[in-house]
This record gives sequence, C-alpha cells and structure tokens, in this order.
Amino acid sequence: MAMREMGAKVNGGEACRLCVGRTYVIERQGDQAQARVCACSDSCSVCGGRGHVLVEREAEFSQKVGPKRYEVMEPCTCTRRRRRVALFNDVHLPGVVAHAGFDNYRAFNEAQDRGRGVAMHFAHQYVKGVTAKGFILSGPVGTGKTHLLAATLGHLVLEMGVRARYVEISLLYATIRRGFQEGKSGGEIIGPLSEVEVLAIDELGKGRGSAFEMETLDELIARRYNAGRTTLFATNYSLEPERKQLRAAGPTGYRSTDDARAAVRGEELLRERVGERIYSRLCEMCTFVELPKDTPDRRRTRQEMDTLHHPPTGMRSAGR
Ligand SMILES: Nc1ncnc2c1ncn2[C@@H]1O[C@H](COP(=O)(O)OP(=O)(O)OP(=O)(O)O)[C@@H](O)[C@H]1O
Ligand SMILES: [Mg+2]
Ligand SMILES: [Zn+2]
Ligand SMILES: [Zn+2]
Repeated sequence: MAMREMGAKVNGGEACRLCVGRTYVIERQGDQAQARVCACSDSCSVCGGRGHVLVEREAEFSQKVGPKRYEVMEPCTCTRRRRRVALFNDVHLPGVVAHAGFDNYRAFNEAQDRGRGVAMHFAHQYVKGVTAKGFILSGPVGTGKTHLLAATLGHLVLEMGVRARYVEISLLYATIRRGFQEGKSGGEIIGPLSEVEVLAIDELGKGRGSAFEMETLDELIARRYNAGRTTLFATNYSLEPERKQLRAAGPTGYRSTDDARAAVRGEELLRERVGERIYSRLCEMCTFVELPKDTPDRRRTRQEMDTLHHPPTGMRSAGR
C-alpha cells in the first residue's frame, strides 16, 4: 500500500498527518505519556519487515590485496525506531505533558524565550555519551517548566536514542518509603536513577525537608555529580543565592513597594530548601533560568480562554 511507505511520507512525499513525518506518536495513557510507532510506519519497505538490512562496507585489510568490499548486517531504521519508542516508554514522563514539544511552547516574556532557547540548545547540541551542562528552570506554577523538560527528554530519546528518566521528587520519596515497607533499600531505587544517562528531576525543593528526604536528594545528586552525569531540573523556588536585601532606608526613607511585597511574601530560595551542598553542585552542573513571578499561569489562562470561547467538551486530544 502506498500509505505504508517508510519515513511516513504518503502520496508522493506528503507527510503523514497524524505524526507529521515523525513516524511515532505520543499519547496520554493514564498518568503517563506513551509513544508508539505511527500506523504509517508500521510496516517497513526498506527491510520488508525483517528488521535488519545488509550494508556494504569497504576496508583495507592488507596492502597487497587492497581495499575490499564486504557486507554486514545492521539494524534497519524501523528496528531503531521501535527501540527508541520502547526507551521513551521507560522515561515515565507524565501524561499531562504528552503533547509537549519545543514547537508548541509559547514565550510570554524574555525569560521564557531564554528558557526555551537554553532547552533547545541543550537538546540539539547533546552528544550521546558525553557529559553536558544541564539546566535548571525556576518559575511560578503553570509556566511550562515540566513542558520544556518533557520536550527535551522526548528529543533526546526519540531522535537520538539516549537513555533518560524523569522523576517528580515527592513521588520519588514516596516510592522509596513504600520500598522500605517491602524490605527494599533506598539504594535499590536510587541506583538506576543515579546511573541513567540523562535524568530530569522535577519539583526540586518540594517536600517536608525531613532528614530522609534531604539524605535521598543528596545521595542522588552527589552520585550523578561525581560520575559527571547530565541532570536537568525544574523548581518553583528562586535560584537567587541571597534573599534580596531590604533597603532599610532608601533616599526618601521608605522601602520600595517591591521590597515590601517580597518581604511579606517571604520568597523562598532553593538554596535554603536544598542546602549548601546541593546548591553548590547545581551551580556547576546547570545553566540557571529564572522566570519572573508575573509569568502567566497557562493552566489558568487556558481555562479562562476555553470557558470564554468554547463550552466544556471534555478532554483535548493529545496529538503533538
Ligand atoms: N509557555 C507555554 N507554552 C505552551 N504551553 C504551556 C506553556 N506553559 C505551560 N503550558 C502548558 O500548560 C500546562 C502546565 O504546564 P507545566 O506543567 O509545564 O507547568 P509547570 O511550569 O511545570 O508548573 P508547576 O510549577 O505547577 O509544575 C501543560 O499542559 C503545558 O503544556
Ligand atoms: Mg511542573
Ligand atoms: Zn504517521
Ligand atoms: Zn525496516
């Protein structure tokens, strides 16, 4: 069938509408984002479904004989695609960001534009197996931090075949606590996360700040830091090293209203939440991106737009 062409091109080069030429689709399944090979690429015309292809190589084994041609068996692109889809399903990205890509991220201010730029640069410059400086996104709720983590991991895994994991920090603490009751050690759960090539830790700084939580986080980050592994983060806490000093008496004798507001809000710093040891390692491991407090909450603005323009019709489709 013409529809079943490799590379998701149908009818003379037009990209498949479902996967827009990507050959895979990502959908929300329960609480997780799951990838599958698109129907347009289910059967492979390159290898005829065998999953591997013969490729011709040339090499010189001896000067007397000169260059010799020989054939080797290699995995076909369809095999690689299936492997990458399986890798993606091991990342454990949340279902709510199944649609998240760089192309559908919108920047409402310069900081968000920079955030997208940093994440895209990271994703596109990444070389498999080579330590890279990660990034940490800080900002208020609903500003697309998890969205950018998901877009970045999606690119690394599906376009490059990198092994990656995503964890929401308080779910990790809960998983380890549950593990304790089943007789597992914390290390059994931390182990794979400290070794995976790229790890995204979401909601950094969240939790009760108990000794158990601090030790778990410290172990995870120290292990990754020591091994030179790349880690990405998102947090609601400010990345500033110091609380903004309140000017006790400005030229007029009054504090600015901004200072007064910050004092009332008691803005919390990530450095105070995670402690000196972790904060210091973050400085070395990551590019810092901080979104200002007035960055709009997309969950709210979308809700307002939806109720203005459309009556509620249930779930949106999760197509990319
Ligand atoms: N700048 C943006 N462009 C496009 N979509 C966005 C943007 N910001 C948020 N969204 C969408 O809004 C929803 C919430 O975003 P997301 O979960 O990434 O927010 P967050 O910054 O991680 O918030 P929180 O701090 O509460 O975890 C998602 O569906 C996401 O795709
Ligand atoms: Mg988030
Ligand atoms: Zn398709
Ligand atoms: Zn094939």
